Amino acid sequence: MAKPIIALTDLTRKFKELTALNRITLAIQQGELFGLVGPDGAGKTTLLRTLAGLLTISEGGGTVSGFDIKKESERIKPKLGYMAQEFSLYEKLSVLENLRFFAEMYDVPPEIQAERIPDLLEFAGLSEFTNRRAAHLSGGMKKKLALASTLVHRPPILLLDEPTTGVDPVSRREFWNILTDLHLKGTTILISTPYMDEADRCSRVGLMYQGEIAICDTPAVIRNKLEGEFIKIVTDDWQTARRVLLKLPGVLEVQSYGEALHVLVDSSKKRQKELTKALEQNDLTINEIRTSPPRMEEAFISIIRKMDQVI
Ligand SMILES: Nc1ncnc2c1ncn2[C@@H]1O[C@H](COP(=O)(O)OP(=O)(O)OP(=O)(O)O)[C@@H](O)[C@H]1O
Ligand SMILES: [Mg+2]
Repeated sequence: MAKPIIALTDLTRKFKELTALNRITLAIQQGELFGLVGPDGAGKTTLLRTLAGLLTISEGGGTVSGFDIKKESERIKPKLGYMAQEFSLYEKLSVLENLRFFAEMYDVPPEIQAERIPDLLEFAGLSEFTNRRAAHLSGGMKKKLALASTLVHRPPILLLDEPTTGVDPVSRREFWNILTDLHLKGTTILISTPYMDEADRCSRVGLMYQGEIAICDTPAVIRNKLEGEFIKIVTDDWQTARRVLLKLPGVLEVQSYGEALHVLVDSSKKRQKELTKALEQNDLTINEIRTSPPRMEEAFISIIRKMDQVI
C-alpha cells in the first residue's frame, strides 16, 4: 500500500491532567474521505487542531504529507486547508475581501487569485454576494465562504471541523456536493461531523471516544458490527414500552428516537411475536412494528454503551 498521507503513532495531547488525545494511531491514505465522529468532548477538534499545527503534541507524533508534525509544521501548512469549528472569517470584510485575505496569507500570486477566486465564488454559490459583509451572510453561506477560503491555495488535504453544523438541509446537501467533487478530484478530506448520514458518506469513519479512536472502519463494516437485528416499534407510551421490552428474553438493547424505540434483539424473526404479545399484555397500543436495517447511529450508540460498561 502507498505511504499514508497522514500517519500518526501514539499521538497524545494533554491539557494538564486531562488527556484529550490518548495515543492515537491512525493512517489515512491519499484521496480518502475520512469522517471523525464522537460525542462532545471526545477529542475531534483537538485532533484536527494538532494536525493543523495549532496545538503542540505532548507525546508520540506523526507525519502529514511525509513531513514531521512536530518539526516541519511550516512545510505542512501549505498542504493543508483547515476549517475551524467556530466561525473564523473576518466579519467586517466582504465575501471577496475575505477570499483575497486568505489568498494573500497563503502567498497566492495576484494573477492566480484573479483566475481562482471567481471559480471559488461560483463553486460556493456566492457569486451574487461578493460585496456582502461576512457578518451579514446566512449561516450556510458563512460555512460555504469558510470552505472557499480554505480552498484558495488549492490544498491537497482538507481538515474540516463540523463544517455543516447548524446548516439547513439544502445547504448541507450543497456543501456535500462540493465535498464530493473535491474528493473525486483526489483531495484528501478529514471531516468531523455530528451527523450520521454524513458519516455514512465517508470512505472510512473513526469513532472517537474519550480521546481514543474506538473504532475505525468503512460505514458498512461498522453497521455490521451490530450483533443482532433491530425492530422499530412505535407505541402510545414509549417509556412504559421501553421498561416492558428491556425485561424480555432476547432483547439486547433498547434505543429511543423520539417516540420510536429501536429494539436490538438476537433474532427479529424469533422475537417480533413475543414483543408484540408482551406490549399488548401491558395494554400498550402498537402503532408500528417492523424490522429495520441497522444504521450507523445505532451502531455507534451500541459501541459506546458497551465501552461505558467496560469502564
Ligand atoms: N484549550 C484547552 N484547554 C483545556 N482543555 C481543553 C482545551 N481544548 C479542549 N479541551 C478539552 O479536551 C477535550 C476534547 O475537546 P475537543 O474540543 O477536542 O472535543 P470535540 O470532540 O471536538 O467536542 P465537540 O463535539 O463538542 O466539538 C474536552 O474535554 C475539552 O474540554
Ligand atoms: Mg469539536
